[in-house]
Amino acid sequence: MTDLRHHGDVEATPGLVDLAVNVRSGSPPAWLRAVLHDAVDACAAYPDPARARAAVAAAHGRPEDEVLLTAGAAETFTLVARALAPRHAVVVHPSFTEPEAALRAHGHAVHRHLLDAPSYLLTPPPEDADLVVLGNPTNPTSVLHPGGDVAALCRPGRTVVLDEAFADTDPGEPQSLAARRDLPGLLVVRSLTKTWGLAGLRVGYALGPPDLVAALAAVQPHWPVSTPALAALEACSTPAALAQAETWAHELAGHRRALLDLLPAGVEVVGQPRSSFVLLRLPDADRVRRELRAAGFAVRRGDTFPGLAPDHLRVAVRDPTTSAAFTAALAAILERS
Ligand SMILES: Cc1ncc(COP(=O)(O)O)c(C=O)c1O
Repeated sequence: MTDLRHHGDVEATPGLVDLAVNVRSGSPPAWLRAVLHDAVDACAAYPDPARARAAVAAAHGRPEDEVLLTAGAAETFTLVARALAPRHAVVVHPSFTEPEAALRAHGHAVHRHLLDAPSYLLTPPPEDADLVVLGNPTNPTSVLHPGGDVAALCRPGRTVVLDEAFADTDPGEPQSLAARRDLPGLLVVRSLTKTWGLAGLRVGYALGPPDLVAALAAVQPHWPVSTPALAALEACSTPAALAQAETWAHELAGHRRALLDLLPAGVEVVGQPRSSFVLLRLPDADRVRRELRAAGFAVRRGDTFPGLAPDHLRVAVRDPTTSAAFTAALAAILERS
């Protein structure tokens, strides 16, 4: 059985260049760290989510009762598993494994809908699925499904949990469904972890119909989101913060191009990467991964993702200097093979 609870943080041992975890490096920016420090001073009181909820709602043009603030996207997956009683739960794979792990931990049977190589683009899941979970852009393939194809999954009687934790890595987010209020049963899951470098803060939110948001809130512990996390939500929802994220998304596209251009012969790029990581395929990838560690680079193994194989590796997009050092190490390993 695949280890659904294996994540890149286990591979990113201190001392190695971290290409295993897809959190933006160099973040959070100084202005956001100042916001967090100030919020620590307010921590004697219980957290009040009102301003953060209003800020998130305004940023997405949605009413406040369509916003659920969470301790990271991962919390939403647990709340879904706790609150819903799906008869036929389908998780689209390869994808982030926490949604399936949470569903199984709560006793739900999970049907895996595997997407096909080489494109890994979305194909319709079983018609009778009353819960469908997918990510867009998708971790680990970095594939961005057309928003229209995702929207077509929604119908009365079905909940679609759309993990958009990486949506803000795509400039302008044209495929995002975060503002779509017309689609029945759509829950869009967002995170501050990746772009803002806040993995340790545990902060995110979900957007969906008021009845679904209320059902998830009802099974959430009281005070689920800390005062510093609420301050981050408010600060990262301002027009200036959103503009900064947009600038980074454009910069990322250039850095991704640089990484792809530097990859040595014999390494296949899977699908069409559109996020802050790329999925690679190469012979003997597990040995290569271990040799990369010896050379100082941590990359993410692919074989713990349902639908992928031991010859897959996921690599974070970093600045071109880091990518040049990584690809040189990779080329040297492949030449020795
Ligand atoms: C696709 C995807 N969704 C969600 C998460 C978890 O996000 P958070 O830190 O907000 O719980 C991750 C973390 O790796 C992820 O890759």
